[in-house]
Amino acid sequence: MLPHHIWPDTATISAGRLQIGGCDAQALAAAHGTPLYVFDEATLRRAMRAYLAAFRRQGLPFGVHYAAKALLTTALAQLVAQEGLGLDVVSGAELLVARRAGVPMAQIHFHGNARSDAELERAVAWGVGAVVVDTLDELERLATLTAGRAQPQGLMLRVAPGIEARTHRYIATGDADSKFGLPPEALDAAAQRIRASAGLRFLGLHAHIGSQLFDLERLGATVAVLVRLAARLRTRHGLTTEELSPGGGLGTPSLAEETAPDLEAYAATLSASLRQHCAAHALPLPRLTVEPGRSIVARAGVALYTVMGRKLAADGSIRYLYVDGGMADNLRPALYHARYTALLANRASAPPGPPVAVAGRYCESGDVLLRDVRLPPAHPGDLLAVATAGAYTLSMASTYNLVPRPAAVLVAAGRARLIQRRETEADVLARDVPL
Ligand code: LLP
Repeated sequence: MLPHHIWPDTATISAGRLQIGGCDAQALAAAHGTPLYVFDEATLRRAMRAYLAAFRRQGLPFGVHYAAKALLTTALAQLVAQEGLGLDVVSGAELLVARRAGVPMAQIHFHGNARSDAELERAVAWGVGAVVVDTLDELERLATLTAGRAQPQGLMLRVAPGIEARTHRYIATGDADSKFGLPPEALDAAAQRIRASAGLRFLGLHAHIGSQLFDLERLGATVAVLVRLAARLRTRHGLTTEELSPGGGLGTPSLAEETAPDLEAYAATLSASLRQHCAAHALPLPRLTVEPGRSIVARAGVALYTVMGRKLAADGSIRYLYVDGGMADNLRPALYHARYTALLANRASAPPGPPVAVAGRYCESGDVLLRDVRLPPAHPGDLLAVATAGAYTLSMASTYNLVPRPAAVLVAAGRARLIQRRETEADVLARDVPL
């Protein structure tokens, strides 16, 4: 039995072989090559529906915007649109994918702290629901760019709420020192600029304290800070906060012994905090928007690698298993010391041997995907499956060592559809210009 808080809903072991979405992992690897990222459509759709259902039960106006940075392909954005979620994008190209997929522009939030004029112009021309503004400089540019427009552009202000998230420091974004968000004292200047700009319409406030969060209390506290600032904006500047967003960040366990945070408790904590603090400040309830990325896609994705070789210790035990991918398709262990769970997809029921490390193919000592994993003694040709690999892997992938990036398939009911083709050497060299 597979622990389904780590593996996709449809993942099973049948005759010792991993199946996902009714497809045999080894057959997928044979058909598409490795490394291969396999996404389970049922898990994706269920995760999206669970978010909507949890907030619907809270009985207040809400929006769920999938954070595209965790993983974006047109097919995934099509699922997002079909399920009725909005989308958060952070670049012109992410916006392009959203449009290709038919995500309604009104349901798009465009984030960023250093966007080009061209990107902002595209967002405004296409009518994105909200441009989320992180700096006074960008607010200035946006005001200039939208001056004289008949239809004012909706905007939200992102603030640094001064709340430290308990997570890896590279993915904590809420403290006052973070690179993200306007310091609360800058809100007055921002409000004045917005009020003086006919091309801009203030929608509300946003914060995102970090990613991979298991602590609901600090998310509730973030809502409280935002409501307090919303009250201040109303009293001092007459601005109404129609929408309020504590960002995304809900964590996803990646080890069997970890527990998934409770989505109902998450929705209840945010909603209760919003209700309580709005009542205390006599503010009308704004729409609550959340922006989950990882918790939608992480568990739906399984990475498949071929075991290429081994490094044996003096006693003959396996010190390292080498696989045909690594830090260029999954930077997370090297960058955040992220830990993962794995199994041998072609011999999942064989008895495990002593713990081994799984290292990637890239020329870097830090290219170790798993440090301490118990697998059946593996041989070249075996297929390694890494769980919870859907988030911040392909979206952060590089072509380090000029190795082409992996393919991705979407599986459901025994059928696998290619959603991202494998990169070719020609693709990798396409931008290379000889003297
Ligand atoms: N909203 C905003 C404004 C964000 O900056 C992020 C993530 C999200 C939503 C989605 O957060 P999620 O629900 O996925 O935690 N590369 C890192 C994570 C970086 C997250 C950046 N911002 C990692 O691999 O852990």
